[in-house]
Amino acid sequence: MMKLKYSIEESAAVLKQGGLVAFPTETVYGLGADATQETAIRKVFAAKGRPIDHPLIVHVADFAALFQWAVELSPMALALAKVFWPGPLTLIVKKAPFVSDLITGGQDTVGIRCPNHSVALKLIKQLGNGIVGPSANRFGRISPTTADAVYEELGEKVDIILAGGRCQVGVESTIVDTTKEHPRILRPGAISYAEIEKVLGTKVLMKERGSTAERVSGAFASHYAPLTPAKLIFSREKWLAYLTADNLPQALLTREKIMLSPDICVIQMPLDARAYAHQLYATLRFLDQKNMRQIVIEAVPDESEWDAVRDRLSKICS
Ligand code: TXA
Ligand code: MG
Repeated sequence: MMKLKYSIEESAAVLKQGGLVAFPTETVYGLGADATQETAIRKVFAAKGRPIDHPLIVHVADFAALFQWAVELSPMALALAKVFWPGPLTLIVKKAPFVSDLITGGQDTVGIRCPNHSVALKLIKQLGNGIVGPSANRFGRISPTTADAVYEELGEKVDIILAGGRCQVGVESTIVDTTKEHPRILRPGAISYAEIEKVLGTKVLMKERGSTAERVSGAFASHYAPLTPAKLIFSREKWLAYLTADNLPQALLTREKIMLSPDICVIQMPLDARAYAHQLYATLRFLDQKNMRQIVIEAVPDESEWDAVRDRLSKICS
């Protein structure tokens, strides 16, 4: 794979010239372009096949950069950035005047995130600018958590894939809108509802399920879909009945330790929410290559620590 590189200097030079560099973060790989070059930003939309009005987030190297990219920062935005950056938290804030409409989808807000990954942070510093970075997958597909998965998704459409191992978190960042009177989680992620509420000491709202008022990609039903049909099943009796209805090759993702017929590929998923999130996308990608009839997924607990996984499963499954 000729695209795979380890050189931060070379990657920063490609970004400076208006090229595309896929880069590792602690959540998922991002498809990077210099956030101050509109022609480069357009290439990101083209490579992903992403609708042009769908806003991008900007990755920055430190807390101070927030003041460069945003105006009218609320105390809650500052408090969250202070506590959780660098980390898997994207803040929606009022944009500074210079921020391109291409990034914001014409809105007056922008999503900013400081990733907790040394390679990403060095790349941003070396470029000396923010880097726009949607997940490095084709629109509507599962986010990549390894450099190989990026290649599978985007192949020759990127100039460089900057390799940085497997992503620690494995699902996309928590997104919090800090521009309204009350903070609101637009996308659950590794930073939980409870952690955010604890820092802010105020009630945090949660985006209603299925609501498409805001342009958050998770709001589209087609999002995060594996190619193999996936079905979410809530009770053990139901998934056993579902699986044994015929004996075509299929997979079951469960947190239980069970043995089923050889036609059913049972994947035992972790009991811990963080460990589960870490494995989820890689597991689905692996299963997608097996040409199975379906993937049956056991629903996860209702507790808030499972919010991110539950949210992604509801989008992955029909
Ligand atoms: O973990 C992550 O956030 C990864 C890594 C690469 O940093 N990035 C990522 O980007 O997931 P993307 O574009 O796949 O998802 C960012 C989401 C999009 O669904 C977008 O609609 C939403 O953030 N977003 C961006 N700007 C926004 C804004 N101003 N208001 C509301 N939502 C916004
Ligand atoms: Mg995405």
